[in-house]
Amino acid sequence: MEFTGRTVVVTGAGSGIGRATARLFAAAGALVLGVGRRGETLTETAGPHEAISVHVADLRDPDAPAGVIEAAIARWGRLDVLVNNAGAAQIMPLAETTAGEIAALFELNVTAPSLLARHALPHLRETRGSIVNVSSTYGHRPLPGGACYAASKAAVEQLTRSWALELAAEGIRVNALAPGPTESGALASAGLPAAVVEQIKRDEEGRIPMGRRGDPGEVAAWILRLADPSATWLTGQVLTVDGGLELV
Ligand SMILES: NC(=O)c1ccc[n+]([C@@H]2O[C@H](COP(=O)([O-])OP(=O)(O)OC[C@H]3O[C@@H](n4cnc5c(N)ncnc54)[C@H](OP(=O)(O)O)[C@@H]3O)[C@@H](O)[C@H]2O)c1
Repeated sequence: MEFTGRTVVVTGAGSGIGRATARLFAAAGALVLGVGRRGETLTETAGPHEAISVHVADLRDPDAPAGVIEAAIARWGRLDVLVNNAGAAQIMPLAETTAGEIAALFELNVTAPSLLARHALPHLRETRGSIVNVSSTYGHRPLPGGACYAASKAAVEQLTRSWALELAAEGIRVNALAPGPTESGALASAGLPAAVVEQIKRDEEGRIPMGRRGDPGEVAAWILRLADPSATWLTGQVLTVDGGLELV
């Protein structure tokens, strides 16, 4: 894959899948703007890569998406790829579900990617660029105790298909990657105690046919493939990368 001269926005670039994605794009020749709330983790992602710039923003702020795209254009002058990766998982049993928690989850997982895509659009039109949204296997599988997370990722998959159709005539491709359980800060960020996180990881390992959780790099590689400019006729697809979990 060759991204020399292309520019990429990766949200949630300070950890996990987003960090691996930002670094792989940079290694493939792209100029990257990594976005997240914590400047120090973004700076760690960039490391010595001059090709990775960082932008600190809380994507739940409705003005943040416009600011992200403005920053990318100010830094790199064009935009070829938007990777909507930032997201949060949340355990929320129905009996404990509140309006505030649903709104906060959807602000990050659904509203922010939508507004980022909206503000990226004029620039993607100029480059005939592409969008890669990060869903989850739970975007198309039920998740008891996490229905609102699953619903937010199902929304991401429908945004993907709908935007793909809306933008196809303009040559802008839109695809999604649906990872299975992958090593990252996601479970800890969901506010679960360490012992519960370990138990969930053991349960997941037991259910995944390939016998282990994924590595962020194994997921990021497919984000690059979906964004690859040579994948000229691929749009509206949701690719699951999960060690076979979806088959059982
Ligand atoms: N790991 C898995 O098993 C798995 C499985 C399926 C899908 N996914 C999806 O993969 C994506 C990446 O998750 P991950 O596993 O790599 O988890 P992660 O390590 O927790 O990464 C999430 C990233 O999003 C950023 N973020 C969170 N809230 C934000 C906000 N309000 N504004 C800006 N940035 C924010 C975080 O940075 P800051 O905290 O610095 O803002 C963090 O870098 C998510 O969409 C997740 O739903 C993960």
